[in-house]
Amino acid sequence: MSTNLKIALLFGGRSSEHEVSIMSGHSVYQAIDKNTYEVYPIAITREGKWLSPRISKKVMEDGRITTEKEQVVFVPEPGNGRIIGIKGDMNIDLKVDLVFPALHGPFGEDGTLQGMLELAGVPYVGAGVVSSAVGMDKAIMKDLFQVKGLPQGRYQVIKRYDLEQDVEKVIAELEQVFDYPCFVKPANLGSSVGISKVHNREEMPEALRKAAEHDRKIIVEEFLNGRELEVSVLGNEIIEASVAGEIIPAKDFYDYEAKYISEDSKLLIPAPLDEEKMEEIRSFAIKVYQAIDCQGFARVDFFLERETERLLVNEINTIPGFTRISMYSKLWEHSGLSYGKLVDRLIQLSLERYQDMKRNKF
Ligand SMILES: Nc1ncnc2c1ncn2[C@@H]1O[C@H](COP(=O)(O)OP(=O)(O)O)[C@@H](O)[C@H]1O
Ligand SMILES: [Mg+2]
Repeated sequence: MSTNLKIALLFGGRSSEHEVSIMSGHSVYQAIDKNTYEVYPIAITREGKWLSPRISKKVMEDGRITTEKEQVVFVPEPGNGRIIGIKGDMNIDLKVDLVFPALHGPFGEDGTLQGMLELAGVPYVGAGVVSSAVGMDKAIMKDLFQVKGLPQGRYQVIKRYDLEQDVEKVIAELEQVFDYPCFVKPANLGSSVGISKVHNREEMPEALRKAAEHDRKIIVEEFLNGRELEVSVLGNEIIEASVAGEIIPAKDFYDYEAKYISEDSKLLIPAPLDEEKMEEIRSFAIKVYQAIDCQGFARVDFFLERETERLLVNEINTIPGFTRISMYSKLWEHSGLSYGKLVDRLIQLSLERYQDMKRNKF
């Protein structure tokens, strides 16, 4: 389509998924078609500073940020986004045609960045403001799934404020609803940060306190003894779902270490499911995607309860882990869409979405 589209590729960022995001960014950078697109990598520090493409290239190779001496900022001029140099001896004033956020978690995947890009009128890869925000807030997400009649486990939302008033009262009330073990998580975040499996009452206060470090809302969920299945979804108005994959966590549950550190977690692609279950989960994934009004792409995660064979939605991730070897890309690869083509599709989808949005009168 367009030639020499200037793309700012963002990675790193302020969330606890900083390192994972650097890997996602690096993979996208390597795969993106440099004959069609001019790519400017922008590493974002943990404090939220944006770094020059020159330094950012090195960040991708090293997997971490070692210097902040060349700093740039994004200027959201209406109808025009620019990246300009502000610190260091470089002279950058770059008009950006499109932004590719390879950012996970808060300040990247949660609608905040998307809001800034909307103000600038710059097309960007992935879901819009509302779907990004809903996808990040597990409390709102679960309420919405409930309204849409999508099967999920029992959950309750509690407030940090109430915990701080009377934690014993909160626990007593939770025990009316949940048995042990149960799960406690902060409403935002991802990569299992701040999540605990709580085996008994003694572990409860610490789990609640840990979750409350990350958000003012905390989710408590019944423990689901299930297989963990994931489906990749892609599209704006026409939505496609990949086959499902299965995760075999190396540990008791799929925590941060099992996700990114341990070599023992396994991905089964496709998940060993009979044809009927496979079809059920794929169409379920599209319903979940539509429930949050998602566009671009997302990964939808499920539990298949061992005892009952019920499929229950766990969550949707609007910027899923996106390296070449991540579940999201591997599922598409299995369905015949290579990583490079996938990156290209995402860019095209964001341009289509932008064109469609321009039709709206304000
Ligand atoms: N209700 C639950 N029952 C059993 N395991 C759970 C439950 N909730 C979460 N888990 C385990 O914890 C992991 C992380 O939880 P999840 O809600 O997916 O958070 P994140 O957004 O951090 O990925 C899951 O992949 C699963 O292994
Ligand atoms: Mg998850």
